[in-house]
Amino acid sequence: MKIGVPIEIKNNENRVGMTPSGVFELTKRNHTVYVQKNAGFGSGFFDKDYTKAGATILDTIEEVYTAADMIVKVKEPIEKEYDLIKPHHVVFTYFHFASSEPLTKAMIKTKAACIAYETVEDHDGTLPLLIPMSEVAGRMSIQQGAKYLEKPIKGRGVLLGGVPGVPPGKVLVLGAGIVGIQAAKMAAGLGANVIIMDVNMKQLRHVCDIMPKNVITEFSNEYNIRKHIKDSDLIIGGVLLKGAKAPKLITRDMLKDMRPGTVIVDVAVDQGGCFETTKATTHEAPTYIIDDVVHYCVANMPGAVPYTSTVALTNVTLPYVIKLANEGWKQACQNSAPLNKGLNIVNGNIVYKEIAEAFNLEFSAS
Ligand SMILES: NC(=O)c1ccc[n+]([C@@H]2O[C@H](COP(=O)([O-])OP(=O)(O)OC[C@H]3O[C@@H](n4cnc5c(N)ncnc54)[C@H](O)[C@@H]3O)[C@@H](O)[C@H]2O)c1
Repeated sequence: MKIGVPIEIKNNENRVGMTPSGVFELTKRNHTVYVQKNAGFGSGFFDKDYTKAGATILDTIEEVYTAADMIVKVKEPIEKEYDLIKPHHVVFTYFHFASSEPLTKAMIKTKAACIAYETVEDHDGTLPLLIPMSEVAGRMSIQQGAKYLEKPIKGRGVLLGGVPGVPPGKVLVLGAGIVGIQAAKMAAGLGANVIIMDVNMKQLRHVCDIMPKNVITEFSNEYNIRKHIKDSDLIIGGVLLKGAKAPKLITRDMLKDMRPGTVIVDVAVDQGGCFETTKATTHEAPTYIIDDVVHYCVANMPGAVPYTSTVALTNVTLPYVIKLANEGWKQACQNSAPLNKGLNIVNGNIVYKEIAEAFNLEFSAS
C-alpha cells in the first residue's frame, strides 16, 4: 500500500504520524511510504532519518495526499486539508468528530474511510490509542506542578521532595486511572507525600498494591477532598466519567481553604475539567491565578513534549497501520474488532452511533 505522512499544520502541533522506525517496518513489508519534507522536524526526526528507513520525501502536502492511499496523521484534518482527501483515501488519525460538526460534515463529503484513533477499542473496553497520551499528561502534571510551585512564578515556594531536615511537599491526586497512577508515581519518585483518590475500589486496591509507601490511597468523596486540600501543595485532577463531563470535585468556595500559592493542575480539562474554576489554557500562557491558587489547565499537555509523545503514540498505532496496509481497511476491520470500532465515517456514511447522535445525523451500521 502507498502510505502518506503529511506535516501537521494545526497550530502548535509538533507531533508527526510516523517515526522513521515505523517507516522501516512498513517498507520492510514492501509498502511505500511518502513523508512530507520536514514532517518530523518538530519531533526531532529529520528527512535523512526517514530516507534511510526507506521513505520517499515529497515537498508538499498536496503531493503526499495525491501519492498515498492511506494517510497516517496525529490531529484531525483542518479546513485547508479537507479538499485534499479523496474517496479512495483511508485516513487514520485522532478525529474527535463529536466535538466538531463542520469536520464531520466535511469528512462525510470526502467519502473517504475515516478511522479514529480515539475510538479504537480493545476487548476489555480500554482505548489503546488514548492511553499513551494520558501517560504523558499524567507524568507531565507533576513536572509542571513542581515548576509552578516555585515562588518566582507565584507558587508556594515549596520543593516537592524537601531536603534533609525539611519535610517533602504533599500532592493530592484525584482519580487513580492512567493519568492519576502516572502522576502519583512521579510525585512519589520525587519524594513527595502523595494521596491518591478514586471512587473505584478495584482501582484503589490495585494502586495500593503497586505503589511505594509514600503513596496513600483514600476513597474519593467531598469530605475527604476538603480535608486534604487544606495542606496539599499540589493537586492533580485526573478523573474521567466515560462519555460524560468530568465531575466538579473542587468548587470555587474550596479555593479559600487552600494555602496561597497552592498549584492545581486540571488534566481533565479536555472533558470540561474537575475543578469549577478551570478554564482551558495553552502552552503559551499555561496558568492563571484565582484566590491565590495557581491553575494550570493546558488542554494538550503532550504537545509540549512532541518527541516523547510521537514515539509513545506511534508505538501503539503502528501495529494497526501495518494491519491496515497488509490487509486493506475493509478486511483489516473485519478481522479486528478493536480496529472495527475505530471506523467513524465510511463512504459518506456515519458508522459510529454516538457521532450521528451528537449532530442528529443519519447513522448507518457498518
Ligand atoms: N490535558 C491533557 O493534555 C490530557 C491528556 C491526556 C488525557 N487527558 C484527560 O485526563 C482525564 C483522565 O484520563 P485517564 O486516561 O486517566 O482516564 P481513566 O479512565 O484511566 O481514569 C479516570 C479515573 O477517574 C476515576 N473517577 C471517576 N469519578 C471520580 C471521582 N468522583 N473521584 C475520583 N476519581 C474518580 C475513575 O474511577 C477512573 O479510575 C481524561 O479526561 C482525559 O481526557 C488530558
